[in-house]
Amino acid sequence: MTPTPLRLAVLLSGRGSNMEALARACASGMLAARVVVVIADRAGAAGIVAARALGLETATLVHAGDRGAFERVLTETLERHRPQALALAGFMRVLSADFVARYLGRMFNIHPSLLPKYPGLDTHRRVLAAGDTLHGASVHFVTAELDAGPVVLQSQVAVEPHDSEATLAARVLATEHIIYPRALAWFADGRLAWRDGGAWLDGRALTEPLVEDFRAAATP
Ligand code: GRF
Repeated sequence: MTPTPLRLAVLLSGRGSNMEALARACASGMLAARVVVVIADRAGAAGIVAARALGLETATLVHAGDRGAFERVLTETLERHRPQALALAGFMRVLSADFVARYLGRMFNIHPSLLPKYPGLDTHRRVLAAGDTLHGASVHFVTAELDAGPVVLQSQVAVEPHDSEATLAARVLATEHIIYPRALAWFADGRLAWRDGGAWLDGRALTEPLVEDFRAAATP
């Protein structure tokens, strides 16, 4: 018997390429989930146009009033779709501890750095400025502290001498589209879980993230 697909909500603010990667992974059967709603916090987010083109339910919640008011509307909108998991995919808003607590253990984020290095913005620029030779992306459980929740899976890419912010970002993004669906597939399959304040995979505490090494892969 095929298990019921996980009901997944995606939150975004912009382009939505990670949302598309997740939706395609659901459609292909690689990720045993169904995107039940895509929510943007900005009017005109390209990701909403892309989600509609994929036939997905969408909502745009423009921030009115304080964070509490926004999160009340966000929660109401989400709960109408009864999500079992939330994927932040380029969602540029910091969520309150109360909101995080409600979805703790079933809310994920993709961040374009090898966390704990470079939380926050402008990761590619900061990597280039530091002269790092290794970079990548991280899928992590969301906790109340920004970009600090337990990391499940990381991609590693090489920083090339000729890299600009744009070329480096593109190379990392291509790996995001692989590792985000992969980690969520583990969750949908019941292999990945939140227990005792941490990530567990296949019944064992993940003391360090799993790493996929893309350094030898063809570069976009
Ligand atoms: C990605 O780089 C992701 O890691 C970061 O925001 C960007 C979103 O890109 N959190 P997209 O909207 O999914 O194309």
